[in-house]
Amino acid sequence: MKAVILVGGLGSRLRPLTTTIPKPMLPLLNRPFIATVLAHLRRYGVNEVILSTGYLPEVFTDFLAETRAMGMSVEVVTEDRPLGTCGAVKNVADRLDETFLVLNGDILTDINLTNLIDYHRQKGAVATISLTAVEDPTSYGLVPLERDGRVSSFVEKPSWDEATTDLINAGTYVLEPEVLAHAPLGENYSFERGLFPYLLDEDMKVYGFPASSYWLDIGTPEKFIRAHKDLLEGKLPFDFTGTEIKSRVWVGEGTTVDQNALLYGPVVMGDNCTIESNAVIIGPTSLGDGCHVSAGARVEGAICFSDCRLQSGAVVRNSVLGRGVDVGKQVHIDDFAVLGDNLVIGEGNWLRRGIKVAPGSTLEPGTIRF
Ligand code: GDD
Ligand code: MG
Repeated sequence: MKAVILVGGLGSRLRPLTTTIPKPMLPLLNRPFIATVLAHLRRYGVNEVILSTGYLPEVFTDFLAETRAMGMSVEVVTEDRPLGTCGAVKNVADRLDETFLVLNGDILTDINLTNLIDYHRQKGAVATISLTAVEDPTSYGLVPLERDGRVSSFVEKPSWDEATTDLINAGTYVLEPEVLAHAPLGENYSFERGLFPYLLDEDMKVYGFPASSYWLDIGTPEKFIRAHKDLLEGKLPFDFTGTEIKSRVWVGEGTTVDQNALLYGPVVMGDNCTIESNAVIIGPTSLGDGCHVSAGARVEGAICFSDCRLQSGAVVRNSVLGRGVDVGKQVHIDDFAVLGDNLVIGEGNWLRRGIKVAPGSTLEPGTIRF
């Protein structure tokens, strides 16, 4: 079976990380997020994939060699302008002549795809939408069901008044090619506001498949950090690479950890990192290749992409640092700060409470005490 993965979004809520890397290519434990999505598909025998891109497509093309190494056949198709979620699939309709899957490219899940596809066939559906229960459905697509599992309506981003169920669209669909005949070609058109409501109006068989599997949309800083924590804590399958130097602490090649550094797993470090004596690293934490944590610096519950440098007395907690961020002495980064690539943070700055700092800037010592 083929799958189309939608990866054309701008990832605005994850800026500034997504100014240079599209959301599905952001590193997740030092591997592009999409690699985890592909590994999940492969586990269910889905090896043929179309990546529907629009934003920064070259980043996906550069990744194709890795997908071949995974034994998958992945094609990148790029839109000249955003076609919307359904328009993107209509755009590749000529390659889809059998039942196929569509996936939102920012979902971390271990849903059982065999059960989903079997359910779709058993119901004789034209479209089956995987569903998950969430506490606050207002930032998702609300999908109330009839008793027999048929979808009764589809309300994208409902208000609280409309929230009659906690079941939302989990962003994995099984579709019959014939449904695409109802989508306009070359126009911006979405599943959520266009095709699904249309199929329901036409009384076509659209079913919902509630699943209790792990599910997370990684589209905000809080959720991006949570995805790391959940994988590090073993809540869903992940193929850890590197050497496990102590319980749940994995390090890549060429990484040196001083014997007087304090490490509390789960922690993943890439290749060629240096952890000095009296540095403290508390999991769940992920460090990319080439990171340097100086004596007396502390990292806790944080994500640093490659080549970050933490000087002595720096503290980084519950935050995300892009590539090549230089963190000066006594800097405090906490509470879901998101820092862009190649930032230089002078001594004594405090960056907290969801602050976002653009890539490439330099903060003079003591400028921000937020
Ligand atoms: N190719 C392409 N073209 N892809 C697109 C486009 C487009 O024009 N627009 C969005 N995408 C991709 C995004 O990259 C993302 O992977 C996926 O489509 C969904 O877009 P988001 O922007 O992440 O949507 P959302 O999270 O607000 O809502 C969607 O996901 C929810 C589950 O997380 C909807 O499908 C909701 O109904 C759903 O509940
Ligand atoms: Mg999303």
